[in-house]
Amino acid sequence: MTDFVESDHVHPLKLFEAAKDQKRFIYTSAPMVRYSKLAFRQTVHEYGTDLCWTPMILAKEFNRNRFARDSDFTLSTRGPQPPTIVQFGANVPLELARASTLVAPYSSGVDLNCGCPQSWACAETLGAALMEKRELVRDMVLETREHLRRDGWGVGKDKDIDNPKGRSISVKIRVHKDLRKTMDFITTVLGPEQDRHIDFVTIHPRTRSTPSSIPINVEALEILTSTFGKKVPILVSGDVFTLSTLPYTSPIAPVPAGDKDDRINIPNLAGLMSARAILCNPALYAGYDACPWSAVDTFLNKVVRCSLPFKLAQHHVSEMCGPGMGPNKTALLNKKERSALMECTNMVDLIDFLDAKREGGVRRESTSSPN
Ligand SMILES: Cc1cc2nc3c(=O)[nH]c(=O)nc-3n(C[C@H](O)[C@H](O)[C@H](O)COP(=O)(O)O)c2cc1C
Repeated sequence: MTDFVESDHVHPLKLFEAAKDQKRFIYTSAPMVRYSKLAFRQTVHEYGTDLCWTPMILAKEFNRNRFARDSDFTLSTRGPQPPTIVQFGANVPLELARASTLVAPYSSGVDLNCGCPQSWACAETLGAALMEKRELVRDMVLETREHLRRDGWGVGKDKDIDNPKGRSISVKIRVHKDLRKTMDFITTVLGPEQDRHIDFVTIHPRTRSTPSSIPINVEALEILTSTFGKKVPILVSGDVFTLSTLPYTSPIAPVPAGDKDDRINIPNLAGLMSARAILCNPALYAGYDACPWSAVDTFLNKVVRCSLPFKLAQHHVSEMCGPGMGPNKTALLNKKERSALMECTNMVDLIDFLDAKREGGVRRESTSSPN
């Protein structure tokens, strides 16, 4: 951490503004337990991701245990980080506030997970269970804002956009079956328009019980963005598979010419967050509709410097070499080759295996070029 300075951090709202100026969505990579670690964040950042989330970190453990801090949140000692939002799981205002002050010097902002549907999390009133506790969520973000402010961080949202000490506080939510409850939730957590409690919000338009195989609820997204999108920047999480196949249109989203288009238009959406698809194709935001070999190389280079447990790195590579989430099902390795890849037992074998495959694999690179 030694050669790392606070001014390395750009305010997330500055990135929102820059994307808007470029007449495009802001591109973000999702919090993913196990997967959105430093080497992966660095990889997707090299391929056009503006803002990267860490996996959810349990605030209570983080506050109490030095080893939890060292293992849950790693940062680079070699130059600037990818702009990073640290996501916490918390249900006590003081826990979130304390954990946030610990990471503030090393991140661009903090985020509260109000979307995790897993039963262990909900049983502990974490994740999606918080969607029934809007006052508690509001109190958590307010307490965090106050603690960061007391520690000298710039938490004035747009007013601190150019302040090197400016930090954001955000929430990631799901929707309720009855959308009026989601409207009430956002209204409470957002607070007064002239001094809102959160910098931005990420909406995953599925309910706590909707499986990820069911498409996102675009109508709910349209209603929420038209109600709140001018008051607070909104990101959508869910089904961002490729830039050219988004399940909605927007004045700033590319629509393939000549398509019969019955997709709903979402004018007040600020940006995109990808999880499963960017795991398979870290180059998604660079316009690739299937993972190129160069992204695998970039990832392996990062892993060598910011190591991951071997099995985890191997799983990442296997995902990248598979058919991906978008309509282009070109894969760098076929099923049999991916099974063989999973039999490698160490990094040297894995790299040798990939080198051997790629001697004949260049042919496949050309079929997945940016669109
Ligand atoms: C492996 C995995 C781990 C996830 N971990 C988290 C997490 O730590 N925090 C969170 O808010 N969401 C988490 N999610 C949910 C994603 O961030 C995202 O909201 C969801 O997968 C929908 O996006 P997608 O359609 O792009 O996958 C996770 C999803 C996956 C697939």
